[in-house]
Amino acid sequence: MTDWHNLENKRLLLQETLDSQKSPLERNQLGQFATPTDLACDIVKYGLTQLPTDSKIRFLDPGIGTGSFYSALRKFTKVESIESAVGYEVDEHYAKPAKRLWKRHKLRISISDFTTANARNGSRANFVICNPPYVRHHHIDSEVKPQLQYSTEASCGIRLSGLSGLYCYFLGLSHKWMEDDAIAGWLIPSEFMDVNYGKEIKQYLLSKVTLLHIHRFDPTNSQFDDALVSSAIVWLKKSRPPKNHKVKFTFGGTLQNPTLSREVLPSELVTERKWTRYPKATKASKTNSIVLGDLFSVKRGLATGDNKFFIMERTEIEKRSLPFECFTPVLPSSRYLNKGIIYSDKDGLPKIDKQLFLLNTSLPQEKIQSLYPTLWEYLKTGLTGEKPVASRYLCKTRRVWYEQENRPPPPFLCTYMGRAADKEKPFRFFLNYSNATACNVYLLLYPKKELLELLFENPNMKMDIWKYLNSIEPNELISNGRVYGGGLYKLEPRELQSISAEKLIHKLTRKIKNTQQQLEFI
Ligand SMILES: C[S@@+](CC[C@H](N)C(=O)[O-])C[C@H]1O[C@@H](n2cnc3c(N)ncnc32)[C@H](O)[C@@H]1O
Repeated sequence: MTDWHNLENKRLLLQETLDSQKSPLERNQLGQFATPTDLACDIVKYGLTQLPTDSKIRFLDPGIGTGSFYSALRKFTKVESIESAVGYEVDEHYAKPAKRLWKRHKLRISISDFTTANARNGSRANFVICNPPYVRHHHIDSEVKPQLQYSTEASCGIRLSGLSGLYCYFLGLSHKWMEDDAIAGWLIPSEFMDVNYGKEIKQYLLSKVTLLHIHRFDPTNSQFDDALVSSAIVWLKKSRPPKNHKVKFTFGGTLQNPTLSREVLPSELVTERKWTRYPKATKASKTNSIVLGDLFSVKRGLATGDNKFFIMERTEIEKRSLPFECFTPVLPSSRYLNKGIIYSDKDGLPKIDKQLFLLNTSLPQEKIQSLYPTLWEYLKTGLTGEKPVASRYLCKTRRVWYEQENRPPPPFLCTYMGRAADKEKPFRFFLNYSNATACNVYLLLYPKKELLELLFENPNMKMDIWKYLNSIEPNELISNGRVYGGGLYKLEPRELQSISAEKLIHKLTRKIKNTQQQLEFI
């Protein structure tokens, strides 16, 4: 093992020990999630390629923790190439042991708050690498926030929105610590690329520095823990952009070897509201308006493979003495729902006349055989006959043939298809308070993170959203969907997602105007 490996192992052990001495809540409050070694190495290695060769390194990490980036720097550079190295760490719990760890090295750790630290002449850096604390705006003290806005504007010339997370202030504040032509790499949440508070960050990146490259990880193929799945690495240079400059957008794979890559003109980025469209998109979206897909992820309901086999009424379950715990309530087709609101009883069952249950278990056959012999007998009937259920296409492609897709109870649903006589509505929306899920005769609307948080704080808003959804003009839905012979209309998830949500946003904004909370996605 090399000296570097020994040192890195020591640091990782220290990190683990220090993390374990804190509760997840405490670590959350200061955004204390360390960068995994491989990622830190990838970032630093790539960053070094952006610096002029043979330049002496003056390194800064404004939220250093135990020093993952400095350690990576030591892996790829000789100690003589490092002229200075400075790290800030506000929490003594990490800072003191880290100081001891790096005692014999060039790294100087200051145990203080980076957001109030002074950038003195001679303390500037040409290589800033940081995974800043991700602390959401409502956890930033309301008295501290104006001060942060003021000092960030003094540093980088941009006044950040009050909805910005702490990481945005770190980015803006570090501007004054950077020498001309300095390179910075920021590992930050990618949400700034789309949400409203990110506007000023994007303005900074396009007007005050040269935005070199944004790499986004593929959340479905995450090599990292949860805290990093939706992260991006933003590379910038403190200089005016050269003529004909293009910004590199990459996605997936690794920083050095991404799955997708595209170069985009800054002039295009100025008008594009959603930067996460890159590198997939070939050109800016026609409309920058907010659509339902910004607020909800829309999914087709469950395709069981054979509703007759997998869905039954309570009487049937009782008659066969099947175990209720292996069933999930499921909504019947919309013709059995004469009201738009599905209320719940104390057990989470929908208060409707036709209650149905979906066989929903992923237990392996041997377990079922020993735990639930009656269910085993029933499943065996799915293996026999002329066209056994188990050999149907959908069932055949599953891990275990009777296991259903994961479709948690959706708070909102829309019928997937319908017929409309003249002015009637072909699609109906439902508000679901029960624990029932639904099959593929419905589209299921799951609020995305920001909306989910808002609804958690303001459960009454579900009703406003449902009323709004039902007030969408039939024509708007029809023109986004498709029509089949005999006036049969269908609406696919993507089509519903592309419907404008501007009015809904205004409605919700009006409602919360007098409360502390604000919508971050507008
Ligand atoms: C996301 S962690 C990254 C730690 C380390 N750089 C790494 O990548 O493993 C952010 C660090 O910033 C520290 N921090 C939070 N607020 C700070 C502040 N105001 N000034 C300096 N450090 C701060 C946290 O204690 C935490 O150690």
